Amino acid sequence: RIWPVLLSGGVGARLWPVSRAAMPKQLISLTEAATMLQATAARCADAARFHPPLVVASAAHAVTIGDQLAAVDATPGALILEPVARNTAPAIALAALEVLQHDPAGLMLVMPSDHHIAYPEVLQAAVATALPLAEAGWLVTFGITPDHPATGYGYIEIGEKLADGVNKVEKFVEKPDIATATRWLAEGRHVWNGGIFLMRADVLLDELAKHAPAMRDACQRAFAAARRDAGAVTPDAGIFAGCPADSIDYAVFERAERVAVVPVAMGWSDIGSWDALRDLGPADADGNVSSNNVIAVDTQRCLLRSEGPILATIGVQDLVIVATADAVLVSAAGQTQGVRKIVDRLAGDA
Ligand code: GDD
Ligand code: MG
Repeated sequence: RIWPVLLSGGVGARLWPVSRAAMPKQLISLTEAATMLQATAARCADAARFHPPLVVASAAHAVTIGDQLAAVDATPGALILEPVARNTAPAIALAALEVLQHDPAGLMLVMPSDHHIAYPEVLQAAVATALPLAEAGWLVTFGITPDHPATGYGYIEIGEKLADGVNKVEKFVEKPDIATATRWLAEGRHVWNGGIFLMRADVLLDELAKHAPAMRDACQRAFAAARRDAGAVTPDAGIFAGCPADSIDYAVFERAERVAVVPVAMGWSDIGSWDALRDLGPADADGNVSSNNVIAVDTQRCLLRSEGPILATIGVQDLVIVATADAVLVSAAGQTQGVRKIVDRLAGDA
């Protein structure tokens, strides 16, 4: 059985004002009734194939995460609580160390907890395809066909065929500049890294030892000195604070040699912005995507969402309006990446 590793440490700043430090995007409902974390847990709920999930998150969210997972009968195998955020490579290393406590050849399926996947059964099939190579020591990623020159993703150049549906990764480049992304989109030889990984815990730790030895060492020591109570594992705060911060993409995937990719058409979106939600829909006949307390008159192609007050519009097009009890965002559609600037200005109290 596979060990699911749910990464839940992000802050989701670009989905302000709904996503807040105390309640970031993975802990709220955006595209369905379940929160994104609950939807992620549901993708690995089959006990015949998966162990209970290992969740790696900020200590600040421990109670909310525990409640949300209990509500959908997905009590974690362990809740690994980071005293400080050190990005995804140390988070995944901690999970790998936990896996090795139970299972020396354990396989991890690492999943961001803030992605929308329309066809989870397609992901399940891709995981089955990836399994033999992951068992043989390959680090396996899942590739998404790009449809625009995004600069916020990892790009994978597809290499030789390793097995049916699996190719070697010729080159992995995290977050290329716009000129490079545009060229690769036109060439058609790249897929995006979906941020989901299947790999052996021991192999991942060996790769870290090779490419980021100080990180591997700090994680090992912080984990060895961890406090354990009631399913929660808290690595030593002082040691973990000294761990170098980096993402798994830069620290390992750009450098490792035995990396494979399974291209997968699973209706993937990482819901990086309000524009992504406007694209996802469902839209009404006027092209508006609205919550149910919205009155839209002569309004087209807008995202209209209110967490409380009635939201009413007349004669407007191509806007994103998001209202909560204490803040309202109004943005031109296509510019919601700029929400980050608002959050920066609010400096911490968003
Ligand atoms: N536990 C923990 N601790 N989780 C974290 C931390 C951390 O310090 N930092 C980020 N995460 C979680 C986020 O909540 C998210 O679920 C996941 O890890 C990925 O982190 P992001 O910060 O969202 O990464 P990204 O979007 O910039 O890039 C990654 O995802 C892209 C696809 O969405 C990369 O893997 C790219 O290559 C990839 O294309
Ligand atoms: Mg992301």
